[in-house]
Amino acid sequence: MAPLDLSPNELEPYWVPFTANRAFKKRPRLFAGAKGMHYFKPDGTKVIDGTSGLFCVNAGHCREPIVKAIQEQAAKLDYSPAFQYGHPKVFELASRLALLAPGDLDYAFFANSGSEAVDTALKVALGYHKARGEGARTRFIGRERGYHGIGFGGISVGGMVANRKQFGNMLTGVDHLQATYNRAEQAFTKGEPAWGAHLADELTRLINLHDASTIAAVIVEPVAGSTGILPPPKGYLKKLREITQQHGILLIFDEVITGFGRLGYGFASERYGVTPDMITFAKGVTNAAVPMAGVMASKTIYDAFMTGPEHLVELFHGYTYSGHPLAAVAGLATLDVYRDDGLFERAQKLEPVFADAMMSLKGEPGVEDIRTVGLLAGIDLAPTGGKPGLRGYEATERMYHDLNIYVRVAMDTLVVAPPLIATESDIAEIRDSLAKVIRAGA
Ligand SMILES: Cc1ncc(COP(=O)(O)O)c(C=O)c1O
Repeated sequence: MAPLDLSPNELEPYWVPFTANRAFKKRPRLFAGAKGMHYFKPDGTKVIDGTSGLFCVNAGHCREPIVKAIQEQAAKLDYSPAFQYGHPKVFELASRLALLAPGDLDYAFFANSGSEAVDTALKVALGYHKARGEGARTRFIGRERGYHGIGFGGISVGGMVANRKQFGNMLTGVDHLQATYNRAEQAFTKGEPAWGAHLADELTRLINLHDASTIAAVIVEPVAGSTGILPPPKGYLKKLREITQQHGILLIFDEVITGFGRLGYGFASERYGVTPDMITFAKGVTNAAVPMAGVMASKTIYDAFMTGPEHLVELFHGYTYSGHPLAAVAGLATLDVYRDDGLFERAQKLEPVFADAMMSLKGEPGVEDIRTVGLLAGIDLAPTGGKPGLRGYEATERMYHDLNIYVRVAMDTLVVAPPLIATESDIAEIRDSLAKVIRAGA
């Protein structure tokens, strides 16, 4: 390339992820600053954040205690080797997460993204069974419309066609449960739908087909997030737990979105009274200020690995940046903010207000369904002109350029997830802007 005649902000070289690059570069959408509930465009215009970045800035943007913790740590210990060495803050964070996690999920393995956390959990599941002499348990069961990131493990157990079809072979030996969403039975439900618990029985069918002795783990999001917010039918997750427990199959909850207050609790597991064997987390753990993710694993799983000579590695897995010092202190400061500001309780109190506000969009032109749970909502819009995704894309452009609101769009579904610090008037503002977007695109 010829750098000398390029302006410093030349848009072309950056290949923007999960983005229509050509359209974006013709009319870019940039955020140059953020504070609390808002982003700021490069010209300083305030944009209300209706999806907490990507479901991750749960405590609002640029929170001072988190910023300060990162700044101080950067000057004190920038990096410590993640293998064979440690640093005090990462142990402290693991202990705090163990207190937050349900049951005996007392062990934290750190990664840097939700995708890595999912890969980690799948590998731990395989290693666990092997360590116990059940190495034939290699199959995984995911779910249609599940999203578990974009590693080969995640797209294999995930159920989003667009994320799979470009990439050929994936992990072998993976089956998928049916998605739990059925519009005819569940349309415009607030919270967990009454219909659909029986869909968990499909797991029994798959166990009968393959035999339990070949199945390592079932992985599901408690609420499917990226495919448009699909809350679990009442009783569904409990059933999955009963069936997996009966057959020695591990249950993994992917709580990358549902953790850290999004559903009013530390983890969705607590909301649903179901303790899985592993929980994957990311996003809200550091309020997204520094990338961090990980897996909470049960003591039973951890103990299964703690055999053999004590000088040898028990799990051949890890990342250069596992438990990075900046991420560890960001995590600690974030957990303090959640506690000190009572943000999980706040999310519980706001849930009905938020659900009413979102549900009041029923009747706007082309709104086909609305689902809400915790501080999450999915609003399905009818596609225009036989072109799925076009209405959603136009909504994205209109929100940024005309209405100064940011809400994530998945195809033609608006996915709303405000920071847990949102006030009732913030929620009303988001609702009113969405009404304008919907009308303008009808
Ligand atoms: C449930 C779930 N799992 C995994 C991931 C992947 O996380 P990351 O993008 O950090 O790799 C996501 C991201 O949205 C997610 O929602």
